[in-house]
Amino acid sequence: MSFNTIIVEKKQSVGIITFNRPKAMNALCPALFAELTEALDELESDDAIAAIIITGDDRAFAAGADIGEMSESTYQQMLANESLSGQWDRIALCRKPVIAAVAGYALGGGCELAMSCDFIIAADNAKFGQPEVTIGTMPGIGGTQRLTRLVGKAKAMDMCLTGRMMDVQEAERAGLVSRIEPLDKYFEVALDTAKQIASFSRPVVKLVKEAVDAALETTLSQGMKTERRLFHSTFAFEDQKEGMKAFIEKRKPAFKNR
Ligand code: CAA
Repeated sequence: MSFNTIIVEKKQSVGIITFNRPKAMNALCPALFAELTEALDELESDDAIAAIIITGDDRAFAAGADIGEMSESTYQQMLANESLSGQWDRIALCRKPVIAAVAGYALGGGCELAMSCDFIIAADNAKFGQPEVTIGTMPGIGGTQRLTRLVGKAKAMDMCLTGRMMDVQEAERAGLVSRIEPLDKYFEVALDTAKQIASFSRPVVKLVKEAVDAALETTLSQGMKTERRLFHSTFAFEDQKEGMKAFIEKRKPAFKNR
């Protein structure tokens, strides 16, 4: 795969997508969205890949949608580009686990893309924000919706109405970030984490992800029912038998992804 705005690599069973517009702080232009969508399509259909990492560089995960490319757009053009919303939400639609490895700025669309991953492992220099209001617009790819579900109304309103940034400690306390790691280690930790997830039974991992996602979309009682049905269904997998047998026999399980 050869791209201009991203770099795609495969390390064992982990696919890595790195935003590659360092001069523009990895601002998200239409070409980048198109390439990100293509890369995710490819990694998702590759049976050798079991988990995906999306990352940027040390200065910026992504500093938001590309303001230069967007500044003269008209309402009609934005509306006509509605079809692109499939690209904007492509990460959330991925059925394989996706980790955001975030260093530096994750602002506007950058914060929104990080939030559409399954979880965020952040470097100690990471900063998160929805500064759209400061440039005369508002979040457009989940900033008012995912952020509110992740950190609650008070912090989401504060962030979206003032455009202020959260440092990584505040982001972790608020539940936006799952782990904070030193800048020189965060990617390694994300890669080890992705490899660990990739070592588990893939159909089981898929059901776990589906169940956690259901928590944000349904009532508690519906979510509990969904979870129970999915839990029951793991007993149809050879991997459940192998996992429990291996525990009893005090050895590592050899999952076969079936
Ligand atoms: N779009 C286009 N270019 C951007 C950019 C963006 N979102 N963010 C940074 N850049 C560019 C700058 O224009 C600059 O380019 P030049 O060197 O050619 O001048 C380069 O990246 C470096 O940026 P700065 O000189 O500004 O670096 P800094 O360290 O002083 O500040 C920053 C860094 C705080 C991230 C600052 O660049 C900034 O505030 N960026 C804009 C953040 C923003 O408003 N994002 C929201 C975008 S709208 C959106 O995302 C809508 C949506 O929900 C879909």
